[in-house]
Amino acid sequence: MGRQLFLRGALGLVAIGLLALAQAFSTERMQADLQALLSQGPRVAGLPATTAAGEYLAAELRKVGYTVEFQPFTYSRTRDQGSSLLVGTTSFPVSSVAGSPGRRVEGPLAVVPGAGLAADFADLNLQGAIAVVRRGGIPGLEKARLAAERGAVGLILLTEEPSGTRFTFGGNSPIPGVTLSQSDGAGLFSQAGTRAVLDVRIVTEEVQGRNVIARRSSQNPLVIVGAHYDSVPGSPGANDNASGTVTVLELARQLADSPLAAQIWFLFFDGEEDGLWGSRRFVEQNPEIVRGLKGMLNLDMVGVNVNGTLGIGGSGELRALADCNALQVACGSAPGGGSDHVPFAQAGVPVLFFFRGLDPNYHRPTDTLADPVLMAQTGQVVRGILERLLR
Ligand code: BES
Ligand code: ZN
Repeated sequence: MGRQLFLRGALGLVAIGLLALAQAFSTERMQADLQALLSQGPRVAGLPATTAAGEYLAAELRKVGYTVEFQPFTYSRTRDQGSSLLVGTTSFPVSSVAGSPGRRVEGPLAVVPGAGLAADFADLNLQGAIAVVRRGGIPGLEKARLAAERGAVGLILLTEEPSGTRFTFGGNSPIPGVTLSQSDGAGLFSQAGTRAVLDVRIVTEEVQGRNVIARRSSQNPLVIVGAHYDSVPGSPGANDNASGTVTVLELARQLADSPLAAQIWFLFFDGEEDGLWGSRRFVEQNPEIVRGLKGMLNLDMVGVNVNGTLGIGGSGELRALADCNALQVACGSAPGGGSDHVPFAQAGVPVLFFFRGLDPNYHRPTDTLADPVLMAQTGQVVRGILERLLR
């Protein structure tokens, strides 16, 4: 009797041990994954580094038994061909803002006062001028429209970020627009009225993007867990978003032999940085799958501790399944927009967005580090939600 109890106890301990083993996120393996992704250089959609990253993900997922398919898609994107600004005889290191038309314009420089909010434009006559305005407060596209309405032919946005940091209007600007850091552009404020030549040279290119889709069964999924694996030009994208990519990959490895895997698709989105192209195309092309989803969980920027918490945004009902306390993870909130959960939310799917905040290296060449311990914590919270949602 005593011996049987002992045996049962021992078996129980073994079972708990195995469970713990199955749940352990391997920080070594995630470090190796990060290395593999970062070694390719920036993963700009359509470029060879991104193709190689997709192959790496597919190979790792196939190793543990997943069926992996690529979902190819195309879209067009503009690329800076070396834009320039000449004020008098001085040239400035400007970069075109994505969404700007390619055009050469000439006119006197005009300075928009204050922070460049709508009220600051109110009394200005910018007829034929190239307007200089600080970035921030309201969207850059709004400033371009306000400037154009008052007759401006071009726009220079002064940024807190260094010259060369990539920006997008997130739509089509009526007039050519460029950015320049406030320090490089400080001299412009005393140049109002000086003749300026702004030449925005861009080419439009067709991009071939590719989502990576991993599944364990032929049945439609109840949940999609995803992360974008592309990054912006010039940035290695360690936190944005090798961190989410590798966390989802490691989670897929752990769940490969669990019954949960049959109900989940793991998605790695391409073209996110150019405007959520991969997730939008997935949602457009798979209406039936999207209709059947109980949830979509998106991980973006989960490898750097910005404010001490793991931000979780989205559906309150799904959020209630996150057992942060039991896992000793400090959880907070996350913004509503800006990543691949948005097209799913717009299609009526309950979503969660896991996000630790914008770190100082966001979209910069210095985005080279992501912490596997923080990523593992994120993965554990996601795993707990999946277990409760799918049991
Ligand atoms: N990793 C960021 C996510 C993000 C979320 C940034 C919320 C800021 C706030 C993402 O890759 C990103 O940079 N998104 C773009 C928007 C996208 C539609 C091009 C952004 O927020 O500027
Ligand atoms: Zn991102």
